[in-house]
Amino acid sequence: MSTSTMTSATRGTWGSRLAFILAVAGSAIGLGNIWRFPIVTAEGGGGAFVLIYLLCAAFVGLPVMLAEMVVGRAGERNPVGAIKHLGNGTKWRWVGGLGVVTAFIVLSFYSVIAGWTIHYMFSAGVGKFTETLDTDAYFIEMVADPGKEMLYHGIFMIAVILTVAAGIRNGIERTIKVTMPILGVVLLVLLIRSLTLPGAFEGLAYYLTPDFSKVTANTVLQALAQAFFSLSLGMGAIITYGSYLQKDESLPSSAGYVVMLDSAVALLAGCIIFPALVYANLPLDEGGPGLMFQVLPQVLVQLPWAPWGGILFGTIFFLLLAIAAFTSAISLLEVPVSYLVDEKNWKRKKATWFVGGGAFLIGIPSALSLGAVGWLTELSGFEMSLIDLLSGPFMDGALVIGALGLSLFVGWKWGLQRALTEIRQGSPDFKLSAIWAFSIRYVAPIAIVSILTFQLYSIFTPDSSPEESPEEAVIESTDL
Ligand code: TRP
Repeated sequence: MSTSTMTSATRGTWGSRLAFILAVAGSAIGLGNIWRFPIVTAEGGGGAFVLIYLLCAAFVGLPVMLAEMVVGRAGERNPVGAIKHLGNGTKWRWVGGLGVVTAFIVLSFYSVIAGWTIHYMFSAGVGKFTETLDTDAYFIEMVADPGKEMLYHGIFMIAVILTVAAGIRNGIERTIKVTMPILGVVLLVLLIRSLTLPGAFEGLAYYLTPDFSKVTANTVLQALAQAFFSLSLGMGAIITYGSYLQKDESLPSSAGYVVMLDSAVALLAGCIIFPALVYANLPLDEGGPGLMFQVLPQVLVQLPWAPWGGILFGTIFFLLLAIAAFTSAISLLEVPVSYLVDEKNWKRKKATWFVGGGAFLIGIPSALSLGAVGWLTELSGFEMSLIDLLSGPFMDGALVIGALGLSLFVGWKWGLQRALTEIRQGSPDFKLSAIWAFSIRYVAPIAIVSILTFQLYSIFTPDSSPEESPEEAVIESTDL
């Protein structure tokens, strides 16, 4: 008991459960909600996909999220330290180690892309997108400009570093309490704008009309993978945030709120995007950065009350993206920082600047890999850019492996009874314990192994990806 009091006093804690929920939701709600969910939904059978996604999130994502929170709070440490502590120093701590490394690498290129959103926010604000503009050329020029790429990557990273360096309560919590309400308001304003455009209904129909004929085994696996990705599982982020939570707070309902908030934002993002695309007569089948940075800006010039409508809604749209990326990046940086603070006794400030600075430097080749430096753009032997080469294994692969390790650790090694004891500290009448235990032991591991098999299978069956020009491939395959 005395060690636990000591650690929580020196490591910091959340001021309230609301702060914890908002911080975890901030981690979960990211670029994946806005540029990946809508497109996989539209392609995966609309309402049918939404239904499958919600089932995956509720029956697999939610239990794993709860498991991460439990490990964090019971272990009272970063992912490596928590697992080492709970598992009596076993090799399972490598599951945490994988999370620390993955978070660091993902941060390095997440920041590059987040930098684009800041650049675009300014561009929209000064009216760039309300003139007739070749948005493809605009994007390609930006990524080919080393100065711009590094400047915005740097601005974003410094903002993340300053937040994390100030600590849990004074840094992360304070920031989250400002940014998350702004995110909510912006989302609402954009939603009203989109839904009152002519053609809104057609857009919604394209997005959400259930088409069960499009549902295959792959659709289900895609929904599962998206749920893990969107809920920020498998990288130790939720373990880390859970470690700053007081013992008397309820973990199951916190996890439930996060899953609801995250799913709601993902759903609403599509309700903003598709009506706008239909209104502006733009292609509906693009996702990822191509959609955000090349297609959607073309809506702005056509919006009513020109040019002010386009300037206003364009600016706040990219603000929405920037905030979503920012609150996710904060949690990415916090993972390696908490590792250095807990395990290596580093001071938080030093650890933050070291890790954040390192991620900035490591991110530079990624930043230059979309046109600024030729050989990074087309890595020989791989035929893709560095940023794409990293994003696949680290964003899709590593987090799935991490989530598998964590479920097995909780279900089979550390023990469900111990986990339930921890959960009951804050929610004595946790009713779903049998379902949760079953999911962590069997459902989640089986689901995750299926995703992994599916991912490996698609890597080794190259004909699944259609032929594209290299330029298109660069833009489209950065599929965060
Ligand atoms: N959930 C984030 C999104 O939707 C992406 C993400 C995956 C993430 N794993 C993470 C963010 C870990 C922070 C920490 O975009």
